[in-house]
Order: sequence, then structure tokens, then C-alpha cells
Amino acid sequence: SKIWGFENEKVLDYMPGSKERMELKRALQSLKEEVLEIPLIIGGKEVRTGNMGQCIIPHNNKKVIARYHMAGEAEVKMAIQSALEAKREWEKLHWEHRVAIFMKAAELASTSWRARINAATMLCQGKTFIQAEIDSACEMIDFLRYNARCIYEIYSEQPMSAKGTWNRMEYRPLEGFVFAVSPFNFTAIGCNLATAPAICGNVVLWKPSSDAVYSSYMVFKLLQEAGLPDGVINFIPGSGGIIGNMVLSHESLAGVHYTGSTEVFRTMWKNVANNLDKYRTFPRLVGETGGKDYIFAHNSANIDALVASMIRGAFEYQGQKCSAASRAYIPRSIWPEVKEKLVRDIKTIKVGDVEDFGNFMGAVINQKAFNTIKGYIDYAKESNEAEIIIGGNCDDSVGYFVEPTVIATTNPYFKTMVEEIFGPVITVYVYEDEDFEDIIKICDKTSPYGLTGAIFARDRYAIAKLEEELTHNAGNFYINDKPTGAVVGQQPFGGARASGTNDKAGSKYNLLRWMSPRTIKENL
Ligand code: ALA
Repeated sequence: SKIWGFENEKVLDYMPGSKERMELKRALQSLKEEVLEIPLIIGGKEVRTGNMGQCIIPHNNKKVIARYHMAGEAEVKMAIQSALEAKREWEKLHWEHRVAIFMKAAELASTSWRARINAATMLCQGKTFIQAEIDSACEMIDFLRYNARCIYEIYSEQPMSAKGTWNRMEYRPLEGFVFAVSPFNFTAIGCNLATAPAICGNVVLWKPSSDAVYSSYMVFKLLQEAGLPDGVINFIPGSGGIIGNMVLSHESLAGVHYTGSTEVFRTMWKNVANNLDKYRTFPRLVGETGGKDYIFAHNSANIDALVASMIRGAFEYQGQKCSAASRAYIPRSIWPEVKEKLVRDIKTIKVGDVEDFGNFMGAVINQKAFNTIKGYIDYAKESNEAEIIIGGNCDDSVGYFVEPTVIATTNPYFKTMVEEIFGPVITVYVYEDEDFEDIIKICDKTSPYGLTGAIFARDRYAIAKLEEELTHNAGNFYINDKPTGAVVGQQPFGGARASGTNDKAGSKYNLLRWMSPRTIKENL
């Protein structure tokens, strides 16, 4: 298992005057110089439909930076056909050669493509340089390399053979194609959704989020440069409804690899159920969906660590991580100090254009997101069960800007404690210290999700109690750390309940979903 070894890609720091900073600035500039036209890529060929969507800059929302062709029914058909044709050769290619392509892709992502992909992620998805670096550079590279390493481990796992027999396990890819549907918020997730099934020998139709077409297209070009054969992954941006309906009713659908909203995943699941009689095999449905992630503090918590984690967990990338901290439970005895430090530190947060490296937050992704987030803040402003502790202003005149906002509520089931907002808003419920155990139960049943959660305590009995009681409401559980920022190979990521199928992205558990093993017994 140590053939290649594995080390997480180093996060570059972009110090003023550094080579990486200069390269990134240049890439940002060059991306803005032209309006890129992005085709579909089917069977390795560029396809243009003339039905166009556009990519805009969230912090400068009049600026169109790319226009992309959208797939219609004919292109979806073509993509399925190309994938199935490519499959014949691809699944026979020895896994060491497949792995070489993705290892090469990781090398390119680490070097010649790093600045361009980070720049696209900053401009079109509204990430600061550091949020782009940990996503579209480091996490993406880690997914590629770590999956390649896991493949070797999985294939080496073989059954025992009794005397006189020879048993083998052949880790076949699925029969058919996999449909990868990726979100706007992580370029790395898009890459992983498409490449994890492919590395196992599957062929893929990849529909990226319309808000992440630019960076996804670059990832696709990088994979081509790394030697990915034509048709193994087909790049088909467009309307989820049109593409989804066609793909999900095809007899050769073998799996869905999805990250996005719970609602869309449920719709896809129902669609698959309605088509079950058509399929050759039961499609694997792997989804990572919403979250209503929490921070739960005990009165023994280290207050500075708690405050720093509330701020980073709730506001980095404008709270648009499925793992973002969006509700907090704070005991009455420490609340005055927590509140004072929160307000003091949030006042220093700079929100603005992510091309200015001094800003800690950029704009939220689009008008729809802005309206939804503003709606929740307005709801809190008008309620007599809530008060805005800090922030609360929203302005979409130049970009989709929302201030980092802290709401305090007297109702643990207040709307903003329960529903996913996907923006820079955290709601605090202050509880009486002696109600600690009851509030744990409330935390567990408040939301239907189960993605991430963080607890803060120094008292070991409190830590043990929280860990024991909050069993199923977080697939990623953090003790004295923020609930975001899982690292590939260190914290396999995913949650259950309404947060998905918990198949742990960036692990062999995920890769196993893209394999259909054949057990072979031979009598000697
Ligand atoms: N994997 C991402 C995180 O942990 C979503 O924040």
C-alpha cells in the first residue's frame, strides 16, 4: 500500500512578491481579457448548440466572463453513445494505466494549471485566493492522488482460498455509464464526482453546475492534457431538468454521483425509482446533499477557539459550504464573553472583491442565493423571537454582497436554526447551563440533516457525553475545531439523514460504489 505513498498537497501561502501570487494575478488578468466561449465536449470533440448560458462574476455582477453552450436532448444521446463506445476499451485498460492518467492530472493541477484553475474558481465562484487554493488546487490534487492510491489497496484485497481451490475477486467497473452532477461551491468536488467512477474503469456524463462551468471546463481540459481518452468523461453543461430526465430514463444508467441540494437528489431518486423496470442493473445512487451544521459549546469551552471557529466555520466562502456552521448552542455563563469577542472580530472582517487579496469574504454566488439569504435575514429582523447581533445588511447593486451576520434567538426551533440558508449567517441559541443534557437532545432533533457538527469543551465528561449523544446528526464530527475543511485522506467526508448516502468522498468506501466485483472460484 505504500507504492506511491501519499502526502497532502501543500497549501501555498501567496505572500506578497511570491511566485505563486504573481502567477495568480496574471491568470486573473488574462481570464478577464476575453469572454471565453465554452463548448460541450462529447467523445473528445467540441460540440456547439448555440443555446447559450453565461458565467458572471459574483462580486461584479454586470461582467460576463464566459458563455457556454448548453446540451439538449440530441447532445445527451450523443454523449451516452460516446461514453458506451469508449467503455469497451477503457474498462479493458489495465488499472495501472488508468491510474497513471489521474496521477498525471494531479501533477498538472499542481503546476501548470494551478493558477488558471484557481483564478477561474475565484472569479466565477467568488472565492478568495486562499479558499480557491484549498479547493481547486489542494483538495482536487488530493482527490486525484488519494483515489489512485486507494485503487491499488482495493484491488489487492483478495479472498482466502481453501486447500484445492483458487479464489479471486475481480473488481469490475459497473455495467453502463455513470451520471456525475456537480455543485458550484467546490471545483474539487466536480473533479472528484467525474473522476472517481472513471478511475475505477467507468465512463461518465458530467453535468457541472451552471455557476461553475468555467472552472469545470478547465478541469476537463486538464484531464484531456493528462491523456484521458475521448469519451471516457463527457462534458455536458445545461439544464438539469432536460439532461436529468433523459439520462435517468436510459437503460444503461449504472450510477449517479451527485453533490447538491437534498431536494434535487430526492427528485433524482424518485425518477430512478420510476424507471426501475428499464434498467439493466440497479443504479448506484451516491449523493452528498444539504446540511444544517452546528457548533455546540459546553461551559468548559476555550472561548477564543470557539469564537475563531464560529467565524471561520460560518463565514469562510460566505457560508456556502455544505459543512458551514449555521447554528450554535452557547451556555448562558459564557455568552457575554463569546458575544463581545464575536462582535469585536467580525467588525474587522473585510467583504468585497476577491481580486483584492486583503478581503476575507466575497459575494454570494448569484441573485437567487442573494434573495434567499436576504429573505432569512429579513425574517429574523421582523421576528420578536430573534435579534441581529451584528451584520444583516445586504447589497446587490454591484455584486451579491451579504454582511457576515449573527442572529440570536430565544427559540431553539426558530426558522434560521432549522433550515439550510447557504450564506454567511449563523444563528445562536443561548441555553441555561443546567439544561446542557436537554439541549443536546434538541440539537439532535432540530434539523433533518446529518452532515457536520462541532463541539467545544475541555471537560472530558462533557466531550464524551456530546460524542455519545450526537451519534447520527453528523457524518463528520469535530471536537474543538470548526465543522468545515475536511482534508482528503484525513477526514473522509459525508453525512447521513437528509445529507446524503454517506459514501465518504475521498476514500475507498466511495470508490467501492463504482465497482461490481466478480468472485471467481476455481477447483485445482
Ligand atoms: N469537504 C468540504 C468541507 O469539509 C465541504 O468543508
